[in-house]
Amino acid sequence: RGTSRINERGHLEIGGCDTVELAEQFGTPLYVMDEQMIRSRMRAYVEAFRKTGLRFRVGYASKAFNTLAMCRLVAEEGLYLDVVSDGELYTALKAGFPPERIYFHGNNKTPEELDMGLEVGIGWFVVDNFTELSMLDARACKKGTIARILLRTTPGVEAHTHNYIQTGQEDSKFGFDLASGQVHKAVRLSLEAEGLEPDGFHCHIGSQIFEADGFRLAVRKLAKLAEDCRAAYGFRTRVLNIGGGFGIRYSGEDRPLPTEAYISAMAEEIRTGFAGVQPPEVWVEPGRSIVGEAGTTLYRIGTIKEVPGIRKYVAVDGGMNDNPRPALYQASYEAYLANRAKEPPSETVSVAGKLCETGDMLIWDLDLPRVESGDLLAVSCTGAYNYSMANNYNRLRRPAVVFVRDGRADLVVQRESLEDLIRNDRIPERMFSPEP
Ligand code: LLP
Repeated sequence: RGTSRINERGHLEIGGCDTVELAEQFGTPLYVMDEQMIRSRMRAYVEAFRKTGLRFRVGYASKAFNTLAMCRLVAEEGLYLDVVSDGELYTALKAGFPPERIYFHGNNKTPEELDMGLEVGIGWFVVDNFTELSMLDARACKKGTIARILLRTTPGVEAHTHNYIQTGQEDSKFGFDLASGQVHKAVRLSLEAEGLEPDGFHCHIGSQIFEADGFRLAVRKLAKLAEDCRAAYGFRTRVLNIGGGFGIRYSGEDRPLPTEAYISAMAEEIRTGFAGVQPPEVWVEPGRSIVGEAGTTLYRIGTIKEVPGIRKYVAVDGGMNDNPRPALYQASYEAYLANRAKEPPSETVSVAGKLCETGDMLIWDLDLPRVESGDLLAVSCTGAYNYSMANNYNRLRRPAVVFVRDGRADLVVQRESLEDLIRNDRIPERMFSPEP
């Protein structure tokens, strides 16, 4: 994948860097991100849209992986940035990301988060519900400014991997329901609101989607909504944001479409839906498909335990704290011995994490060369929703992140220290002195 290969020493190499050396230099567990691959994934979306002739914007859903260096990279590539919290927004701003290219998602943005967005002048708020609509309006008016918004809709299309289900009303915590006419009310209210300027609509139909049909249907429904709102209120839809969710290849069984296939399918529906009129700007906001395949986690193998006749457990120095996805979603991953990458598999093992929980298993039944304590395990496709979902369960320190490119490795997130773990802890005074 990307720039990975096996070098003459039989080691896995990524971005021209020998992973055995990376592990020695930065320690393990270590997230290794292939910078060139991230950039080429972003460019693939831009290129695919260019071919359609439509006006478009590609946003990066930063929840998948958000750090200062990542935001800088997104800025360099000219993309928009989707943030969902003050923390993601703060990181972007600290990285120097232009606020006018940022937009703010979320079903329960706090008043402080709305103010922060208004204060720094972000491009758009994606308004999720009626509470937010009136709250944002009031706060924008108070500041004497106008907030540009998209309205998040739930179009009644839920896609997951191979198929989608079409519902009437959608039972979701996100967005204005399309089927019951809630969206129309939201359009009317935002057109009347002095502090709001509606620019268009948003929807997000799911994640890790392998087919284009769900996206097609979502576009058709939004195009119809746009036409209805033009006819009813003279509202011109300037932006249609179709969300993210494009699938990636975690293992051989996953068969996502090429980026171009998703985009050209959407474009076709846009052209049909807006025949004879100027189509709106089309946005997508992929997260996983930008960074997922570009990430590899390096672990050191420690203890090995055989349950006679049943299974061999090999334990790594991380686990569900740096990759909660297997435990949370039964997600499956592929892995290799990075220090003996040329050797053919000769045994089947299961990879355990080091956390005190039976469910802390990273991979079941993995074929590897005969594993020894001290070997280096590379788990691939960990670039999305791994670092961003990492936690300190069992008081483990979150790993470091390096960007590799052209034989250079740059530390972009330092490994947490033991001191970091207690930085925010306090011991109440009364615990020092005996009660009177
Ligand atoms: N836009 C919106 C409004 C979203 O809610 C999401 C993801 C995205 C874009 C990006 O979707 P992507 O292209 O990454 O599929 N933690 C889960 C994934 C949760 C996705 C939540 N929303 C996982 O690890 O699989």
